[in-house]
Amino acid sequence: MSPNKKIAVIPGDGIGKEVIPQAVKVIETTKAPVDLTYFDWGADRYLKDGTTVPPDGFEMLARDFDAILVGAFGDPRVPSNIHAKEILLGMRFKMDLYANVRPVRLLDASLCPLKGMEPKDIDFVVIRENTEGPYVDRGSIAQKGTEDEVAIQEDVNTYKGVRRIMRYAFEYCARNKKADGTPRSRVLMCDKSNAMTYAGGLWQRVFKELGAEYPQIKSEHLYVDALCAQMVRDPREFDVVVTNNMFGDIITDLAAGLQGGLGMAASGNIHPGRTSMFEPVHGSAPPLAGKNVANPMGAILTAAMMLRHLGFEEESRKIEAAVLEAVRQRNITHDIGGTLGTSEVGEWIAERVSVANS
Ligand code: NAD
Ligand code: IPM
Ligand code: MN
Repeated sequence: MSPNKKIAVIPGDGIGKEVIPQAVKVIETTKAPVDLTYFDWGADRYLKDGTTVPPDGFEMLARDFDAILVGAFGDPRVPSNIHAKEILLGMRFKMDLYANVRPVRLLDASLCPLKGMEPKDIDFVVIRENTEGPYVDRGSIAQKGTEDEVAIQEDVNTYKGVRRIMRYAFEYCARNKKADGTPRSRVLMCDKSNAMTYAGGLWQRVFKELGAEYPQIKSEHLYVDALCAQMVRDPREFDVVVTNNMFGDIITDLAAGLQGGLGMAASGNIHPGRTSMFEPVHGSAPPLAGKNVANPMGAILTAAMMLRHLGFEEESRKIEAAVLEAVRQRNITHDIGGTLGTSEVGEWIAERVSVANS
């Protein structure tokens, strides 16, 4: 058997099918020793034969692959979104990928909608809990269709779940540096414990408990509403942010805005020691699909994150440097002020990586 790392590639729907080929092209240009296997999971397959995830699909991914690279799921022809739930949330929940790591890094001042922000000012990471919260989809509807209808969506928070995501955040802080080499030093927990007292109480207690184990790291707290205001007013103070599943989803779209938009944001869905999944933060953007206009940089930076996770640090750095250079030389798509198409940006970055290789 080849010693190469095995990567499952699931482009999915919409612009996922356009940005993932660019990410793959860049991975291949690095010559990292990886074998790629494609899966057609997504709306087309679901509409054709009713399959969302084939039987034993998650077991197969965990057994046969070292990592999974995903595009996006979501298609107007599947209004229930059932395939996205079963495939994407299926991977996160059934493979127990509890840490959703979403770096927020400004590559160039020109990309930030805030005045006067430089790359050194915006370099933080959101660690989003990925297996609990309202996403467990537990609840009930009573008196459906009447004026007395009541819909209950349960927000599940377990001691073990909260503790492990906070542990991940403190460890991440202890072990990682910012892009300019300064050590990370602060973990900020974001909740809504002033209104949601059961869940908030647990998050507060566990955060105190774990903070005490890391005296060298400063523990901070903001309510999620105040955090949103702070993020657009002055994001310079953020370092490592840990939060629950739902707030993490919302604040990382906001944070994507700081980086230039959803097209720039990368993420990993991680369970240390297990097959983990990497995907850009953005969705399938149906209005952009099929037009060669989607920004592939989020997907390409996601590929760099995945390669780093697999131990290919040098390859990962080359990709990040090439993306940075593409931004600086304005070889970029329309969403961030450029004129190039999806594949032209991918091609430029791949070319740059290949020059760095030679
Ligand atoms: P979206 O992220 O697809 O798009 C939001 C906005 O950002 C749109 O204006 C879009 O044009 C823009 N955008 C997103 N990615 C871009 C890129 N690469 N380049 C340039 N512009 C980009 O979110 P949405 O519109 O709320 O959702 C569309 C579909 O995607 C829905 O079905 C949703 O459920 C799904 N979705 C999937 C994922 C995922 O698979 N991880 C994430 C978010 C949304
Ligand atoms: C994301 C997406 C998903 C989420 C949707 C598609 C279920 O918005 O990955 O950020 O809410 O987690
Ligand atoms: Mn989201």
